Amino acid sequence: MAATRNSSLDDTFYQKADSFFPANNRVGLTYDDITLATLYSDILPRNTQLDTQLAETLQLNIPAVSADMDTVTESRMAIAMALNGGLGLIHYNMPDRLQLSEVSRVKFHVQGLIQEPIKVSPDQLIGDVLALIEERKFRFSTFPVVDEKGKLVGLLSGHVVKPRYAAKKVAEALTPRKLVHTITKKELGKDPIARADKFFTEHLGIHKLLVVDEDDQMLGLITMSDVERITQERKAQFKPARDAHFRLICGAAVSATRNAFGELDKKRILEHVSGLVERGVDCVAVSTAHGHSQGVGDTVKVLRDAFPKLPIIAGNVTSAAGVDYLADCGANVIKIGQGPGSICTTRIVAGVGIPQMTALYVCSRAAAKKKVSILADGGITKSGDIVKALTLAQGVICGGMFSGCTEAPGEVVEIGGKMYKHYRGMGSLAAMKSGSAARYGHEKADATRKVAAEGIEALKESCGPVDRVLAQLIGGIQSGMGYLGAANLAQLRSKARYIRVSPAGQREAAPHDVVELKTGKTD
Ligand code: XMP
Repeated sequence: MAATRNSSLDDTFYQKADSFFPANNRVGLTYDDITLATLYSDILPRNTQLDTQLAETLQLNIPAVSADMDTVTESRMAIAMALNGGLGLIHYNMPDRLQLSEVSRVKFHVQGLIQEPIKVSPDQLIGDVLALIEERKFRFSTFPVVDEKGKLVGLLSGHVVKPRYAAKKVAEALTPRKLVHTITKKELGKDPIARADKFFTEHLGIHKLLVVDEDDQMLGLITMSDVERITQERKAQFKPARDAHFRLICGAAVSATRNAFGELDKKRILEHVSGLVERGVDCVAVSTAHGHSQGVGDTVKVLRDAFPKLPIIAGNVTSAAGVDYLADCGANVIKIGQGPGSICTTRIVAGVGIPQMTALYVCSRAAAKKKVSILADGGITKSGDIVKALTLAQGVICGGMFSGCTEAPGEVVEIGGKMYKHYRGMGSLAAMKSGSAARYGHEKADATRKVAAEGIEALKESCGPVDRVLAQLIGGIQSGMGYLGAANLAQLRSKARYIRVSPAGQREAAPHDVVELKTGKTD
């Protein structure tokens, strides 16, 4: 019979985590310092499962989280992450009430529902509508018609939006309210796309369904083409990450805010998190640069007492003692990473931090004892890094990888014919001025004086929608799992075997000695 098991020779060179990392305990290792050994496999990459349980009530369908940074995650990014099966953590560099409404946007996002469709009024001329289409380059010509109070009065069909009717009023041309097909949000139920799909099948020739409330106020519009596209996408392997009420999941970062006397502002923290919980937030992340600290621990304790069931992510730490401390305070998920981030300068400025693979190993063993999970936070630049991280962690947090995406906050800027987006560390002076100073142990006012920033402001090449970036990353993770014969992430963690890579080995790992015509990236 053909050998499918390891040979002892392999075991001498390619070691399991509990042999490999202790044997390398005198040097901090990061992603590029190690490589994973292949194993016999009967697993096809496309059949691997990527779901991960971060806490009892926090399950993701892919192990990816977008960072709580003001150039990475607001509602648009969080929606895209959850639609792909992951999680977005909404940053806190904004007024509390704005963060609440960002969370609401995610929780009330109905896939396929155009929440603010372009509307016209009965007094407008068809000529005005034609001019609007021309000016805004719309590729559609059917519009809901609403009165000045937002109440639906009819539908202006594309059949009548023609130059020959330019002088007529919308009121004369519209299909009256009683003939317009509508549905209430309640009737759409838990699975709006399935409901809308059924509607379009039952109503021959109708391509648009208007969503209204009980008072006929327009809430949105569902189009048949969107429903068809989404129904196709649903056949995809990785389903959106949803809560028990079928809403997309969403996390929010909170800070260990202090009051004017320098004490932890428990009242404000509790009030704000209560608001987040009311809006359906699925987890909060107490995000700081130094999580093994009294302020973070006390914040976690206060939240744990007030919200016994709320999944709490806390960090960042890189030591077993740090994991023990945060777990004892009540955190369910611990962020691991101090200084690995692409925009971080903590190691340069403060001389502190641990290379990521060593930190992940140490913290993963402490976390297993405490029955909490860990997220590898920062320093990920390629899918192979994620595979390596997932041999020790239950998920990864990425900032830089998503910051060039369409869904990241901020505009695209053109420099020298290339398109970029701004990406900055939350410990950069500019970000601290906007509110994240507490994360780095400073007061907001300090940020206007001279304090040592621990992050930089940078540009990332614009890289299109998150879907596309995630598709590449997921493909890479599945490929890695196939090489290790791992059908799921638990198997990846238990099967992984490591070896260190020399500088020559690192050079060998990247394309070399060729003139590169095309990068591995898809456009
Ligand atoms: P990547 O490598 O994905 O890293 O861009 C994102 C992570 O970096 C952390 N972060 C910082 N660390 N100074 C730091 O030392 C900073 O200004 C800073 N801003 C973000 C954070 O953990 C994030 O998820």
